[in-house]
Amino acid sequence: MGGELMSLDGPKSAGKVKHKRWFDLKQFLFGIGGNGANGSGPDGEGRVALPAGLRPAVITTMNQKGGCGKTTTVVNLSAALAKGGYRVLVVDMDPQAHASLGLGVRLEAFRRSIYEFLLDDDTTFGDVMRSTSIRGLDVLPSAMKLSEAQLELANIPRGESALKRALKAVEHDYDFIFVDCPPTLNLLTLNALVYAGKVLIPVQTHYYALEGMKELFRTIEAVRKRFNPNLEILGILATLFDQRVTIAVDMLGALRDHFKRQMFETVIHTNVKLIEAPMLREPVISYAPRSSAANDFYCLATEVLDAVTKGVGP
Ligand SMILES: Nc1ncnc2c1ncn2[C@@H]1O[C@H](COP(=O)(O)OP(=O)(O)O)[C@@H](O)[C@H]1O
Ligand SMILES: [Mg+2]
Repeated sequence: MGGELMSLDGPKSAGKVKHKRWFDLKQFLFGIGGNGANGSGPDGEGRVALPAGLRPAVITTMNQKGGCGKTTTVVNLSAALAKGGYRVLVVDMDPQAHASLGLGVRLEAFRRSIYEFLLDDDTTFGDVMRSTSIRGLDVLPSAMKLSEAQLELANIPRGESALKRALKAVEHDYDFIFVDCPPTLNLLTLNALVYAGKVLIPVQTHYYALEGMKELFRTIEAVRKRFNPNLEILGILATLFDQRVTIAVDMLGALRDHFKRQMFETVIHTNVKLIEAPMLREPVISYAPRSSAANDFYCLATEVLDAVTKGVGP
């Protein structure tokens, strides 16, 4: 079942999601928000907004497996939504700073980062936030020393909700806030889970994909019980999918059988443009806007918008 090709020309088989062409999707993205600045659709600058009660939708990508597409998803999903007219903030909670770099932020040692934003009361949002080349898309960049924040967060009262506290004053300026996490379950990851409303789980369509998933679900459940009763799973996203590889097709089928409607219909295919784009410090959405990789992320953006605005999973 799971091996159908996503096509730029529409669905290849009955019963599968309709994959639209990217420009149709852009149209859709512009249209769906419904209440811009004046509450009546996109404003003069092509802005749209989530309804006030849903703003901001805080989404974190989570999977303790490295290299499964967490950062690629944050960078390109946020870019697709910003291109659609939404205001989007990316919070880079990974000391490796790949999301910051992939969005074109220059990491200069003298500039303050999320580290200071979390731990230094004198550092304001404005001191740290950087705009990107995509209008409406901002970043709170990471830095290597964020790895030291773990210890310091452990020593302050309610260190697990430092991110939530720090963003409270500015969060309503954004429709979407994406938090990119390191591939480990630690105090930085816990901060993301305590703050987020929803978790997006990228899963590589490789043989060992399901390894660690049980632990991940247990962690989410534990956070829900102890810290954040509103936390829900937005969806599971199959990534790095290559339909020429039998095991990948089988894996996707198995994932769909197992997780059913928790799976996004959209699949992120393996695509060389997604390797090139970060090297050039750009999302694929702007580096190769007509590529099938960009199309995959517009499809995902549509599904995410749908899920967020309907308040239900994909
Ligand atoms: N769909 C894809 N096709 C090709 N390369 C990809 C794809 N998704 C991610 N990559 C590459 O794989 C590597 C790991 O992806 P990344 O998003 O950084 O994973 P994570 O954040 O989970 O560690 C990166 O070099 C990225 O460019
Ligand atoms: Mg990453």
